[in-house]
Amino acid sequence: MERSGLLESVIESLPYGIVVVSREGELLLANGLGRAYLRLPEESGFPVVENLSAVPGLSGHLSFPLKEPVTPFDLLAVQVGNAYLTLRGRPASDGIALSIIDVTRARNAEQYMLDAILEATEAQRRKLSKEIHDGIGPLISTIKLNLDALQLELKGENARAAQMIESMSQLLQTMSNDIRSISHNLMPNVLVDFGLVAALENLCQRVNSSGKVQANFYHSEIREQIRRKISLGLYRIAQELINNAVKYAQAHTINVQLIRHSDSIVLMVEDDGIGFAPHQSESPHTMDKGIGLRNIQTRVRSLGGSFILESQPGEGVLATIEVPLKARNYDTNNDR
Ligand SMILES: Nc1ncnc2c1ncn2[C@@H]1O[C@H](COP(=O)(O)OP(=O)(O)OP(=O)(O)O)[C@@H](O)[C@H]1O
Ligand SMILES: [Mg+2]
Repeated sequence: MERSGLLESVIESLPYGIVVVSREGELLLANGLGRAYLRLPEESGFPVVENLSAVPGLSGHLSFPLKEPVTPFDLLAVQVGNAYLTLRGRPASDGIALSIIDVTRARNAEQYMLDAILEATEAQRRKLSKEIHDGIGPLISTIKLNLDALQLELKGENARAAQMIESMSQLLQTMSNDIRSISHNLMPNVLVDFGLVAALENLCQRVNSSGKVQANFYHSEIREQIRRKISLGLYRIAQELINNAVKYAQAHTINVQLIRHSDSIVLMVEDDGIGFAPHQSESPHTMDKGIGLRNIQTRVRSLGGSFILESQPGEGVLATIEVPLKARNYDTNNDR
């Protein structure tokens, strides 16, 4: 076999796609998998710009004619049609070589796992919420009723005892309010009954009634019911971001926005507080102190969306979460 024929058959037998493109954007070489992944024509010498622009994010790395030196890049798990592809671009003599791996299976497996973990956490929260609400709540009410009865029994005969009962009764009232709010945080019934807009509105109202900071909620018109997985996810994310703003930001105002786009929904939570440096340390997403921000990333990944956190010390925080509304193929049957 000739050397070039040998090389061709080796490239053809590789378990991943190979596509080599010239500096001017013409196809120099491709194996069958590479052609299939990027939907390229058979002939070489063909301009591939249009085919490559179908890969999200790729045009940012490849604009033809390529500038020298060609910068290597990795695009991880980008969605092309129904598949997820990982593309690596490396300089080749007079152009760029792309190697392409189909990571759809791995990606879907990860997705199933994330979904299962999040669903288990939510189930646990629902259970806890119910137990606290239905178990401890009534007990406190009963104790309080008994105390009131005791107060009547005393008929004002023992002022000191009456005072103690009164302060116990007040403590019980505080406890009852706390229990209600814990149970509510664990499982917001308003979300289940009236949907995301009402639930976010309610969340902001509760922040306002604390009197510490002003929370405003703006939303675009959202007519349809948003899938439970998305609405619960966005609600949990808003809860964490608002909680962080209340805890750390020393902000005057928190603005929460929910905007419906044609194919996606965007949640923004912004505060005018002290801010922080989210990407200061070495780790790619330095959120080492707590798990709140990391949990948001996990949720957003599970929803197939994006999460951008913009902040600097002294500049407040702006968090933007965008989630696609269309169900991915595999989870259309999986939505509860
Ligand atoms: N809105 C904000 N303003 C100022 N600093 C913030 C804000 N949000 C987060 N931070 C900083 O980022 C850190 C990480 O936040 P994250 O929510 O991940 O963890 P946490 O709130 O400390 O703990 P957990 O969420 O697990 O209870 C916080 O400890 C805080 O220092
Ligand atoms: Mg937090």
